[in-house]
Amino acid sequence: MKAKITLAGELKIGEIDRRVFGSFIEHLGRAVYGGIYEPGHPMADENGLRMDVIKMINELGVPVVRYPGGNFVSGYNWEDGVGPLELRPARLELAWGVTEPNKFGTNEFMQWCKKANTAPMMAVNLGTRGPDEARALVEYCNHKSGSKYSDMRIAHGFKDPWDVKLWCLGNEMDGPWQMCAKTAEEYGRTANEAAKMMKWVDASIETVLCGSSSRYMNTFGEWEQKTLEIAYDNVDYVSLHQYYDNHRQDTASFLAKNLDLDDFIYSVICVCDYVKAKKRTKKQINLSFDEWNVWYHSNGAPVERWSVAPNQLEDIYNFEDALVAACMLITLLRHADRVKIACLAQLVNVIAPIFTKTGGGAFRQTIFYPFQAMSKYARGNALKPIIDCPKYDCKDFTDVPYLESVASYDEENEEIALFVVNRSMEEDVQLDISLLGFEDYKAVSFESMDGYNVLEENTFDNEKVKMHSNPLPVEDDKNIVANLKALSFNVIRFKK
Ligand code: AHR
Repeated sequence: MKAKITLAGELKIGEIDRRVFGSFIEHLGRAVYGGIYEPGHPMADENGLRMDVIKMINELGVPVVRYPGGNFVSGYNWEDGVGPLELRPARLELAWGVTEPNKFGTNEFMQWCKKANTAPMMAVNLGTRGPDEARALVEYCNHKSGSKYSDMRIAHGFKDPWDVKLWCLGNEMDGPWQMCAKTAEEYGRTANEAAKMMKWVDASIETVLCGSSSRYMNTFGEWEQKTLEIAYDNVDYVSLHQYYDNHRQDTASFLAKNLDLDDFIYSVICVCDYVKAKKRTKKQINLSFDEWNVWYHSNGAPVERWSVAPNQLEDIYNFEDALVAACMLITLLRHADRVKIACLAQLVNVIAPIFTKTGGGAFRQTIFYPFQAMSKYARGNALKPIIDCPKYDCKDFTDVPYLESVASYDEENEEIALFVVNRSMEEDVQLDISLLGFEDYKAVSFESMDGYNVLEENTFDNEKVKMHSNPLPVEDDKNIVANLKALSFNVIRFKK
């Protein structure tokens, strides 16, 4: 099959905010205990932080990590997780039916962020608790000294404030599964008052309002509208969450799920701008896509009630999941003008790109690789490629282009990166690449992930599903031609 992609410097979508390569650590399963934190592990540092895991996170390039939940945060008392370890209570954790030992909390997370070369994105409990505890946590984390909570932090051994810039106002507050779920009116008011007081404590912070838990909630759209109408002035972003599955084993539809994601993002932008128009304000609300991934392999796995750090949500990803993750990330970048934060959910063990054995090693899952490649090379402005390619129909969608693509243009370093997924299960694509106005640019690398069975997975012993290098695309005076394998994720880089 033949196709053509044209790139032009004029077709800028928007500057890529590095925070779109964020991720998420929740107190859930073995994300914290046995994941990032395991005192006594041979690779752990003096604070129990697993350095083998941190090394992989650094390879991934994750500038921001959301914490401590997720559903967990809606029942969390942050005070349980600070201060002397021996005084911290174990709690029944109602979101996931387990026991939370509270051996890891806010300060341990902040120390971990520093070691992992990332920034915290903290969530406050607006379920069982409210604005008062939220502003106290901002004071604990960000106020220098001379007040109850800042002095408490200092007494706990942390003289300097943590200076947390990004705060989520609760989690999925429209979901009946959430502790103290709320109506839009209830949540809008609570979030508004919390954000207002949190910003009074520290005017430099940014806040994220909970959008609907997914676009399939009955209240989707109306929830965003009502909550924004109440809280607009005190929030900076609205959140979106979306996970996809292939329960039906319909790969053609699964690979096209990001068409749904694209529509979802567009709808939320429309609601934000509707409220903006209604308020006659210049302030624009941007999007924080703070949970996205493939999630279904682990559904239904039994969990022993009230156990500590059980094997929960431990999806093992395959090759087609990696292609779907690549398409999702491409879609997020295609909205770089409005999607300023995004979190691959989650980071370690729990629906995650990194998988560990408690007491043992760690490996990179298939979804690790497209994320790593895009985090590394997507710099500067996102460019909208003009794509001319054949299309297909499947059960869930019609007119699915075989190619999914976005590019980035780093003006400063004179570098272009083109990211392309070939969804065709049968045919390679002979891709003609045209660089308009980039005449002096030459291809410098061509990496891809291809040649695997859709169900192939990585293991502790064999990370076989990964990126590999290819010969450079063939170039003459007029054309650059690259062969994109059937079912492939491709990264082609050009430099002046
Ligand atoms: O990421 C797993 C869970 O998915 C989170 O706790 C919740 O926010 C979402 O429903």
